[in-house]
Amino acid sequence: MTGVTAATAPLSIFAGDADAASGDGTPEQVHLTWGEDPATSVVVSWVSPEPAVQPSLRLKAAASAPRTVAALQRAYTDGMNGQTVYSYHARVDGLEPGTEYHYAVTAANDHHRHEPLTASFRTAPRGRAAFRFTSFGDLSTPNAHWILSSPQSRHAVLAVERFAPLFHLLNGDLCYANLNPTAQPAVWADFGRNVQASASLRPWMPCPGNHEVEFHNGPQGYAAYLARYCLPDNGTAYPGLWYRFRIGSALFISLSADDVIYQDCGPMIGGPEPLSPAPGTGHAPIPPGTSIYNRGYSDGAQTRWLEQTLEQAAKDETIDWIIVQMHQDALSSARDGNGSDKGIREAWLPLFDRYGVDLVLCGHDHDYERSWPVRGCHHGVGRDAATGAAVDTLQPTPVVTSLPADGRFDTSRGTVHLILGGGGTSSPLDRYGADPETGRPLAKVITRRNPPVPDGAAGTWSRAGADAVEDAIWSARRDTDTGYGIGVFDLDPGVPGGFTSITLRYYHAVGADREPTSNYELFETVEFAKRRR
Ligand SMILES: [Fe+2]
Ligand SMILES: [Fe+2]
Repeated sequence: MTGVTAATAPLSIFAGDADAASGDGTPEQVHLTWGEDPATSVVVSWVSPEPAVQPSLRLKAAASAPRTVAALQRAYTDGMNGQTVYSYHARVDGLEPGTEYHYAVTAANDHHRHEPLTASFRTAPRGRAAFRFTSFGDLSTPNAHWILSSPQSRHAVLAVERFAPLFHLLNGDLCYANLNPTAQPAVWADFGRNVQASASLRPWMPCPGNHEVEFHNGPQGYAAYLARYCLPDNGTAYPGLWYRFRIGSALFISLSADDVIYQDCGPMIGGPEPLSPAPGTGHAPIPPGTSIYNRGYSDGAQTRWLEQTLEQAAKDETIDWIIVQMHQDALSSARDGNGSDKGIREAWLPLFDRYGVDLVLCGHDHDYERSWPVRGCHHGVGRDAATGAAVDTLQPTPVVTSLPADGRFDTSRGTVHLILGGGGTSSPLDRYGADPETGRPLAKVITRRNPPVPDGAAGTWSRAGADAVEDAIWSARRDTDTGYGIGVFDLDPGVPGGFTSITLRYYHAVGADREPTSNYELFETVEFAKRRR
């Protein structure tokens, strides 16, 4: 927890005595997210073991008087084991841009209220400024007791601190609680304690992945995720599931791809036994073969919001860069992973083309893959995986297939997709498809739903993999050394009339497939550049 307690001297929050308060309202799992405007607003969030009494944030910058902000509670009761989780969110507005703030979080029944948990953060700069962000998805927890957790997730969090970004993008599949359905709150707690080492010092901006979907936790299964994260409002009936924020000349758009993908990849009961929620929950056993399939859950609201957001961005000449975050992949040639999803290609890639999205950052396949800049698609060139019959996979078209002479990719000509799924799970997927005859990259493509089906063994169910394949003519670079790494992005705003650039340095953790390691080494440096608006 270095940095969390060392950031500043303890701030005294409650001068009076709060001994009357009962229960354990001690803050833990502290994490930051941006508010509506990252230059002036931040949300500080935490969880406590029992309901907090007078939960609050005390905040101070060097040049200003301290302020106290009351935190709001978001509680939910896990629909599988009946445990109630108490989370708190202190929303702070009116901050100074590019300024460091020290803070403490506490409550009247904080067992450490005389020396509460303290940390510090920095607000985003105002205007066209340089800044750094980092990204990966698919983190899990360091507690190897949980399915898909691995000690590498600890190293991944510390890697973010090593590169000290302004903020981090966490591309879905946060902790895989839904693979541990009788202990979901405990998995989330291990995740929250692990990420605190970085997320209490700089915002971590998440998007939901298929492993945030949980049985009996809200209409689409996101109750645990939405209780823990207080994210910029999108003005729709689905707050927190998609959002945007603006820093300098970059617009960041975070999406919930579960809404448009074909793949059936939410939680599933494999059988032969049903999954029985704890008796106190009042929920009946969930029969084998049940899955949660969220395709179409917003009935188009998310795509309409995305188009409006992109339309506005097109009119705003102070926006040079549009960076999209989502969990699942439109362009992935992982051999053993999920592959590419036609649902994203249908719903969103035409919008990315029309409005010039520069970068798309994903996870889902636990590897690193970078595409060439792509625009538009070839029709009818995919093949059915079983029969070889022609299938329209909407194969994305690369606009270049070699490094341009100046060494920089012009993303105003095409969108670059990056898979950064190497956070820290126990399941690296750094093997990639190849055509057995030509040796060229081959991608699996999911073009229709793969619902659970009886798999032949007594009473068990499973889901098929991708139904189609295509030549991955869009695949530029794949990391075959390891399934773990972190993307470090440095934005240079450039000067009026000149170029602006984003430099990606991808660092990978070689050997982590066998043994957890803190050693992240540079794999490749890629520069994206375009004329400044
Ligand atoms: Fe994952
Ligand atoms: Fe996933």
